[in-house]
Amino acid sequence: MKPESELSCLACRRRYPASQVRYRCDCGETLEVVHDLDLLRQRVSREHFDRRLGSQSLPDRSGVWRYRELILSVPEEAIISKPEGNTNLYAVGASEPSGLRRIGRYVGLERFYLKHEGENPTGSFKDRGMTVGITQARALGARAVACASTGNTSASLAAYAAQAELPCLVFIPQGQIAYGKLSQALAYGALNLQIAGDFDAAMRLVQQACQELDIYLLNSLNPFRIEGQKSIAFEILQQLAWQSPDWIVLPAGNLGNTSALGKAVREAQALGLIERLPRLAAVQAAGANPFYQSFQTGFAERFTVQAQTVASAIKIGAPVSYARARRAIEQTNGLVEQVSDAQILEAKAVVDAAGIGCEPASAATVAGAKKLVERGLIKPTDQVVGLLTGHLL
Ligand code: F0G
Repeated sequence: MKPESELSCLACRRRYPASQVRYRCDCGETLEVVHDLDLLRQRVSREHFDRRLGSQSLPDRSGVWRYRELILSVPEEAIISKPEGNTNLYAVGASEPSGLRRIGRYVGLERFYLKHEGENPTGSFKDRGMTVGITQARALGARAVACASTGNTSASLAAYAAQAELPCLVFIPQGQIAYGKLSQALAYGALNLQIAGDFDAAMRLVQQACQELDIYLLNSLNPFRIEGQKSIAFEILQQLAWQSPDWIVLPAGNLGNTSALGKAVREAQALGLIERLPRLAAVQAAGANPFYQSFQTGFAERFTVQAQTVASAIKIGAPVSYARARRAIEQTNGLVEQVSDAQILEAKAVVDAAGIGCEPASAATVAGAKKLVERGLIKPTDQVVGLLTGHLL
């Protein structure tokens, strides 16, 4: 019998059982979860997910587990959820009848929405991946969990690990993460290890530590994290009554989210939930732009950089999910843009002044959308959803 879900290599397509603790193929490339879409087509529909919207009970009430058939097959009682998701989709177009319109006017869009993932329990979209990653960690019998982080991942992992009663280690670049994020990881009881190096160094170290010490790795290298983060796209599509926007714009660092959104919209289309694919626009800080540079070469070359930007959450020079994100951009006819720190800070001031607020990495979305409208790549009449990935605090 064909398994419902398996792990598949992005490069050589080799398959592994989903129950195996494994983050890379033997060939070294990253893995993704592949679902039996023929089976799923018989099980899910727009109406199926819409019926769950009114429910007061878990897992339906979670903005992640509402879509569980497309995410992770696990007994309902095994799910570790707070719940998460159900974040606002703010209408911020240029003619909206409130102060939110100043964002649409700034960007130059009439039909502009901001999905605020900072409204998740620990303040970022990472909670969507972590509820799934921690649930899988428990299902696999993990004895401890770990991640490297620019801040948000560590806050999220620490909170979910505490709920699951799993010991948690976080590797953070010394002096390069925001205090609000660090204080969450500390308060939730994680063991914080400050690395004398940047995020990329912490990422290398945590992979080695997990392998040598038999600890479950919960960076977005872990394919189950990506499955949870797909729910951002499912929720956007459901909030728009299953009509795809023309574009989804998001900040890009380690490229997990770009991968997740690409996979989600592809699956939604294959399952008949949407008719056409939205295009993805991934936005990098100009000082941390390896993916942008690759895009400029038509993905002929892969780059790494020494990252430097005020947006510490996306200060990443060697993104792990390159192959998965490249495919997301190619398959959605998407593009990659870069913005300067000055453009990020200016956009942040506009979002903050409208009373929504976000962290600098999230403001890259708004700065990037503005630049793409100015360059004529996004039309002023296009319907655009921008992702605010983290909370102002
Ligand atoms: N926005 C915020 C607020 C983030 O925290 C991150 C990543 C990103 C965007 C980039 O997303 O890596 O999927 O491309 N933060 C990670 C962390 C790296 O450790 O919290 P990505």
